[in-house]
Amino acid sequence: MFYQTNFIKMKVAVYSFHKFEKEYLTNFNLSKHELKLLDTRLTLQTAQLAEGCKTVSIFVNDDASAPVLNELKKYGVAFLALRSAGYNHVDLVAAKKLGLRVARVPDYSPYSVAEHTVALMLALNRKLIRSHNRVRELNFTLDGLVGFDMQGKTVGIIGTGKIGSVVAKIMNGFGCNIIATDLLENKELKGKYGVTYSDGQSLCSKSDIISLHLPLTAETKHIIDKKYIDKMKRGVMLINTSRGGLINTKEVIGGLKSGVIGYLGIDVYEEESDLFFEDHSEDILQDDVISRLMTFNNVIITGHQAFLTNTALENISKTTIYNIDCFASSDDNKNEIKI
Ligand code: NAI
Repeated sequence: MFYQTNFIKMKVAVYSFHKFEKEYLTNFNLSKHELKLLDTRLTLQTAQLAEGCKTVSIFVNDDASAPVLNELKKYGVAFLALRSAGYNHVDLVAAKKLGLRVARVPDYSPYSVAEHTVALMLALNRKLIRSHNRVRELNFTLDGLVGFDMQGKTVGIIGTGKIGSVVAKIMNGFGCNIIATDLLENKELKGKYGVTYSDGQSLCSKSDIISLHLPLTAETKHIIDKKYIDKMKRGVMLINTSRGGLINTKEVIGGLKSGVIGYLGIDVYEEESDLFFEDHSEDILQDDVISRLMTFNNVIITGHQAFLTNTALENISKTTIYNIDCFASSDDNKNEIKI
């Protein structure tokens, strides 16, 4: 193994470690760094577990707010290696003040998330969960399973970055009309895939399906609220595989109750950090909002699994180890988030 002269073996506290990551992390680390695998989330209470580790690696529902970063700094942490693309859970201003360097995995597989997005659309449209449950009970009736042709429908894509643009291309293959909105227009989508850009209001009023592919920021938080829902076509399908905070869940429930939202597919949920990635099958569910969502037969919820393909896991681990290598050797790294 070739090491640069200034390479330092890092001790890394890997928070929110899941069994499914083990072979990938181990394969790419090749024992270069000492990985302390922790199945707990990073919180103020668990920050102490990083004592003696110069690097901390975190996932989407770990708490990297200012008080937690402060605590990590006290225990000698200097680097944060995110195993995610999104970084809305990290207080970058506080990290900068504390001199903590942060790197992420910007692009591990837009296809994984885009394809899951389309899986949600098709499962909702063709009522696959209901039909699967019926067949298991030897009920082969078809009433209540009527779907619609995707061909010719209008799909509104909010955010045509890496993931949104793959969704647009797949939808183009289905023969859909695609309207998009983004701060920047994608010339390839316009030229080759017939995508037209418009403002959010017109996208809302024309789309049969709306899919969100935005980062969660102060500007995009609750971008889907009652005001927006009131402009949607009756019976619209709404899909969110980005971040739960993009939609005001209580107001979306209002939209489902009134019938304006005809289908909802979500892989992310505003309050997911207390629920997702853990087995709560023995617990009494305390979250009344997600409980209400689960009562609708036109809602499908998956537990933040859109990224979960072997290709994505390989790329996440490979880039995370590369980011740690760069911290260890003080190399420049384009994955570092600089503000
Ligand atoms: P990206 O950065 O490539 O694209 C985001 C797009 O949103 C950009 O084109 C940007 O110009 C646009 N945008 C940002 N703010 C906007 C605003 N206020 N109004 C209109 N457009 C705006 O990001 P990427 O890789 O496509 O990811 C999208 C989201 O998917 C991420 O934020 C991430 O949180 C989420 N994600 C979810 C995963 C899952 O497993 N469910 C896995 C990976 C990412």
